[in-house]
Amino acid sequence: MGSAGSPPPTLDATTQEDLKRVAAYKAVEMVKSDMTLGLGTGSTAAHALDRLGALLRNGALRGVAGVPTSLKTEAHAARVGIPMLALADAAEIHLSIDGADEVDPDLNLVKGRGGSLLREKMIEGAGGRFVVIVDESKLVPRLGCTGAVPVEVVPFGSAYTLGLIRKVFDQLPGFSARLRTVKSKAGDDAEEIFVTDNGNYIVEMFFDDGIHGDLRAISDSLLRITGVVEHGMFLGMATSVIIAKKDGSVSVLT
Ligand code: 5RP
Repeated sequence: MGSAGSPPPTLDATTQEDLKRVAAYKAVEMVKSDMTLGLGTGSTAAHALDRLGALLRNGALRGVAGVPTSLKTEAHAARVGIPMLALADAAEIHLSIDGADEVDPDLNLVKGRGGSLLREKMIEGAGGRFVVIVDESKLVPRLGCTGAVPVEVVPFGSAYTLGLIRKVFDQLPGFSARLRTVKSKAGDDAEEIFVTDNGNYIVEMFFDDGIHGDLRAISDSLLRITGVVEHGMFLGMATSVIIAKKDGSVSVLT
């Protein structure tokens, strides 16, 4: 956890962590008292939680409530004193603040390498502004350039669903897919299947040189595969992207 209560960082940020904090604090400047917020997941969003908690504790903000996008964020928000609401109980979400794994020139995103893509998409797509906070390393010419595009699938028949995904996208250049695994909790060298907060699995889609195809068509094809719950391409959802750069500048793309 970060620096709850610490003053805003200056713009001579040098480490990637500093840049994440700068972007996060900038986004929190947009929060006003009595707002309901979508609370993102990940190391960048964690800085926003710390800052929000600090501003609530010192009375600079009042009446703010957050809808957490993961169990991890829920626990973090509770630790720093952010009141929370379930999505169903939030009359309106005014503003969501979250990181991203990739941002393309049209502000399309890859999200969910932390595994929280479904709740993120539900909450950040529920209305209001969706402000994305990144350091400049997340800017890419095409989605899928720097790692996996995650796809949440139901565990039942997941190997079959993986086979369908492979069949549908096999013709895309440099495509491969696999089920996400993590080191076994038993502490040995074994791997186990990663399970999301919703009890689902993640298929990771890889593209050697990023996605050259039509993103909307790929999204539609994915969502037509029975067994696929949601994918981590967030197309046309970001209302602005705050980018903290190594040269000390911060830019906002809309
Ligand atoms: C989690 C996410 C995160 O926002 C994304 O992975 C970026 O994380 P970080 O800020 O740690 O780089 O989508 O599901």
